[in-house]
Amino acid sequence: MTGHGSFRRGRGWGCQSHKPITLCLFTLILCDLVQQVEGLDLWRSSARIASLFPRTGDLLGGPAESLKKRGENKTVWITNKVYQGETFFDEWDFYNGPDYTHGLVNYLDKTEAMNSGLAYVSADGRANMHVDSTTSFKVDDITNQTRLRPSVRISTKAKYNHGLFILDVAKAPYGCGTWPAYWSTNENWPNDGEIDIIENVHSSVSNQVSWHTTANCTLVSPGNYTGTVGSTICDHGYMSNTGCGIVDPSIASFGAAFNAKGGGIYAMKWDSLSIDVWFFYRTAIPDDILADLPDPAGWPRPSASLSGLGCPIDNYFRNHMLIFDTTLCGDWAGTSYEAAGCPGTCAERVADPASFVNATWSINYIKIYNQTIINTGYLDAGAIRAGYRVLATGLFLITAIFLLL
Ligand SMILES: *[C@@H]1O[C@H](CO)[C@@H](O)[C@H](O)[C@H]1NC(C)=O
Ligand SMILES: *[C@@H]1O[C@H](CO)[C@@H](O)[C@H](O)[C@H]1NC(C)=O
Ligand SMILES: *[C@@H]1O[C@H](CO)[C@@H](O)[C@H](O)[C@H]1NC(C)=O
Ligand SMILES: *[C@@H]1O[C@H](CO)[C@@H](O)[C@H](O)[C@H]1NC(C)=O
Ligand SMILES: *[C@@H]1O[C@H](CO)[C@@H](O)[C@H](O)[C@H]1NC(C)=O
Ligand SMILES: *[C@@H]1O[C@H](CO)[C@@H](O)[C@H](O)[C@H]1NC(C)=O
Repeated sequence: MTGHGSFRRGRGWGCQSHKPITLCLFTLILCDLVQQVEGLDLWRSSARIASLFPRTGDLLGGPAESLKKRGENKTVWITNKVYQGETFFDEWDFYNGPDYTHGLVNYLDKTEAMNSGLAYVSADGRANMHVDSTTSFKVDDITNQTRLRPSVRISTKAKYNHGLFILDVAKAPYGCGTWPAYWSTNENWPNDGEIDIIENVHSSVSNQVSWHTTANCTLVSPGNYTGTVGSTICDHGYMSNTGCGIVDPSIASFGAAFNAKGGGIYAMKWDSLSIDVWFFYRTAIPDDILADLPDPAGWPRPSASLSGLGCPIDNYFRNHMLIFDTTLCGDWAGTSYEAAGCPGTCAERVADPASFVNATWSINYIKIYNQTIINTGYLDAGAIRAGYRVLATGLFLITAIFLLL
């Protein structure tokens, strides 16, 4: 006959005598201490524990609604899209019409650009785009625009509304007559706005961020940014579409010094409250970017920011594609050519292939993140309880075994 008596409980099993009770309490206090120490970085430790015990965390978490109220609404950035390496050019369109800003360039279609070596992914995994720097042209042909210098202009097939856009760029084009831009807009310009993230002309040393919109969007100055304000009126109809803009405080955010330092990171955050742009030297890239867990809330002030206080963002910016181009002369680089101290005329410059040996985009990656709000209450409470329970059980078992021996 088998009786329950045969499953005799050991002396110390459970909190049944005084000695084990003392040890139980000791264990609980120990666990509490462990929890408090872990609590110094509650978010990270709870997320870690929760990832180990997701179901237990859910079960022990209690009613979701009450936890939500106790919790904090934390913003996290989830990867939405990555343009990088061999497949970089797969999801971009190559534009081969005339330049909208009257540049002396001949934008190539994808086949021409690839076949002529002006667009390719190099062995180091970088996506490169060049201006032709081997063909000589007659100045008359350039002036009369019968022949123009080959270049590349690409735009993403996808369109974006809000997000965090991180560009790691090794080289950006520069030099007399050169006008590169990394920017965003759509076909419904200017109604849906334009954001210029990297842009300048000739041999400038500082990047200029700017915004172009319909009427009544203004750049608040001073504001939450470290750069120097130019115009504060973003309306494209003002001053021949100068836009509102901010110049980066760094003298190595564009041009020769930028390239010599291996480029860096340009990050743009776009939400309903503002559009912010950061530039980080390669040696000063925040760890969270390198870890692919970017959190702009912890970064220093941006170089540039268009605040919703002067420009209700969602009324002026919508559905943007990202664009890279390098144009030559034209509305900005042509009109500012002499004043910038560049030699001869801009058309003469364009005719000479040696002018464009540094007119190159070399891109490590673009990563785009969606903003997601996570309520930490649910996660924290569930995870902490689960972690606590597991630790307590473990220590309790060790104590019990120790007492049984
Ligand atoms: C978090 O957001 C939810 C709605 O999404 C709201 O009900 C809750 O009160 C918020 N919690 C805090 C602490 O702001
Ligand atoms: C990011 O947001 C877009 C809409 O803005 C949505 O279509 C897409 O599915 C989201 N991607 C992820 C990974 O959350
Ligand atoms: C091209 O321009 C030159 C002067 O710049 C002019 O003399 C010539 O007639 C032009 N040719 C054509 C075909 O327009
Ligand atoms: C801009 O503001 C002016 C004056 O406040 C107003 O008359 C005009 O309608 C506004 N235009 C737009 C496009 O909002
Ligand atoms: C700057 O940031 C502070 C704190 O977040 C905010 O209160 C203020 O409105 C911001 N200023 C502008 C111009 O957006
Ligand atoms: C190209 O860059 C090199 C330095 O990397 C510089 O010496 C040279 O003058 C530049 N040439 C042009 C045309 O900008």
